[in-house]
Amino acid sequence: MTIGFFDSGIGGLTVLSEALRRLPANDYLYMADTLHVPYGTKPMEEVRTYIVDAIESMVDVGVDALVIACNTATSIAVAELREKYSFPIVGMEPAVKPAVEMNRATGKRVLVFATPLTLQMPKYYALVSRVDEEGIVDSLPLPELVGYCESLQFDTELMREYFRGKLAGYDLNQYGIIVLGCTHYPFYRSILRQVLPPHIQIVDGNVGTIKRLTALMNRFGIAARHGNGSVRFMCTGGEEAYLDKMRSALNFYQEQYMTTEL
Ligand code: DGL
Repeated sequence: MTIGFFDSGIGGLTVLSEALRRLPANDYLYMADTLHVPYGTKPMEEVRTYIVDAIESMVDVGVDALVIACNTATSIAVAELREKYSFPIVGMEPAVKPAVEMNRATGKRVLVFATPLTLQMPKYYALVSRVDEEGIVDSLPLPELVGYCESLQFDTELMREYFRGKLAGYDLNQYGIIVLGCTHYPFYRSILRQVLPPHIQIVDGNVGTIKRLTALMNRFGIAARHGNGSVRFMCTGGEEAYLDKMRSALNFYQEQYMTTEL
């Protein structure tokens, strides 16, 4: 089966890495909307058109299922895409629900990092209203972070200073969990580990997303088989240079974060 993965840029590679490790008997088609990244600082209507067009060119190549490996794109377009296409579509949303449940016993707060656009969308507001009965969830937009990530600025002093600056106004003793509500952000797990106090857990939705993909594929009768974990890359602009960047970002992420046993 060919599973499509879509993101504005390299963020969805953090989700794809989890798929490659858990579902190696598929083939993958990864599409990045390089012409328009970042999405999270642009107006919603403009981004909606970018998403629909990019996914259309990906579907033309052929996919049996699609993962919208982008929280921002999911909150804007997942409903519309599910109406348009008949194959299974898995979306992503910040892992606020599991974080609130994990934190219940500690009485500590949850801090959600995401793009400004994700945090402005009614879908995010509805999610928090539904799961945050105790009022323990705070949200922090990180408008610059996708840009840093796209320029492969990972474990550097600049990034350490960036996170220290963003968190300067927070009493981190009050927090038990940070939710990475954008698929670019898991590239910063290691640096966050250096900047955050050890009691704070860092969670993302990547494993949950691949479990949902597996369940949906079973339901649609398209279980993983006959593939060999090949990845074909597509992008909307920049072509060769960007394709190389995606390959090296995927290698970097797999080597740094995917080496432990399942
Ligand atoms: N990876 C996207 C997300 O999960 C980032 C969107 C952007 O381009 O700002 O939200």
